[in-house]
Amino acid sequence: MKTYLIGSIPGDGIGPEVGREGLKILSAVAELEGFEYELVEYPYSGEYYLQTKELVPDSVIDEWRTLDAVLLGAIGHPDVEPGLVERSVILGLRFGLDMYINLRPIKLYSEHLCPLKDKRPEDVDFVVVRENTEGLYCQIGGHLKKGTPDEVALINGVYTWKGCERAARYAFEQARKRAAARDEGGRAPQVTLVDKDNAIRPHDIWDRAFAQVAVDFPEVQTDHAYVDACCMWMVKNPEWFDVIVTTNMFGDIITDLGAMIQGGMGIAASGNIHPGKTSMFEPIHGSAPKHAGKNVACPLGMISAVAMMLDFLGEGKAAARIEGAVADLLTTRAIPSADTRSGISTSDMGDMVLRQIGAQG
Ligand code: IPM
Ligand code: MG
Repeated sequence: MKTYLIGSIPGDGIGPEVGREGLKILSAVAELEGFEYELVEYPYSGEYYLQTKELVPDSVIDEWRTLDAVLLGAIGHPDVEPGLVERSVILGLRFGLDMYINLRPIKLYSEHLCPLKDKRPEDVDFVVVRENTEGLYCQIGGHLKKGTPDEVALINGVYTWKGCERAARYAFEQARKRAAARDEGGRAPQVTLVDKDNAIRPHDIWDRAFAQVAVDFPEVQTDHAYVDACCMWMVKNPEWFDVIVTTNMFGDIITDLGAMIQGGMGIAASGNIHPGKTSMFEPIHGSAPKHAGKNVACPLGMISAVAMMLDFLGEGKAAARIEGAVADLLTTRAIPSADTRSGISTSDMGDMVLRQIGAQG
């Protein structure tokens, strides 16, 4: 039997607290479903940077390539220059390991968690495939005459044919996979391309790559939305979406909106994926310094990230067991909300999920 090698980066703020609950569930589900794993913990965080001045060295990026997957809590410290450690750890993983897909499921488990009027779980159930290694995140740009009245700041959006093609292909494959998992008579598979090619002309590379890939998936319907309109539809008619594929920057923005319509940042999870290679799984929330150390953060995003990781590793039954437990606890309102107002501590919520998956809490 294979032993999965899993990296763990607890990180900053609430990261270690929710991370602990995620690992608790991982350990329990491994025993229940009969798989084995080994954990390797990494200290990289804002806190660690303040103590050591160390960011992620290249040798560690190389070491990460030998892992099956990485679990990340959250990165970001108020006393460190904004973005410095996030770029080193999160973008270090995404870019360094070519995790070209950021998969973000937007799934509402229970109507009462949704801030939209009259939307039910069947209305909010789609995934965003965010391109994860290009766009405005490539750091191709810089400053001229910085700090003077003549300052110029430039940043280039990078869109390669290969990058657009593989993101589109992954999105169509997701649509196919989701349709196969639906009951007979369920909705037709659909992929919506979200860009801004009316104003940003080079975005038309996305349209052309998308159209080319679509030919290989004749049963999948296609749609297109500008990103501003997409935000509107996500609020007005989220039921229209099945799979969205979009650029790195737009994906960053619309998935925070997506998290809100599925019940908040406390429940949203994501996978940074290179199919067949090391991939990284994280809740989409940040380190939330104001909630750190109080045992109040909601661990469901982290726990759902563990489920996504297991699904990626081929442990579908274990993943479904966790997802089912989270869904049950939310629909029965045993967990009334996925945020600090639930009245349930981080560790108690982890224990509730443990019991719900059938482990001895
Ligand atoms: C996210 C985060 C990151 C991003 C930050 C922390 C660099 O907002 O995962 O969505 O912009 O991608
Ligand atoms: Mg973000």
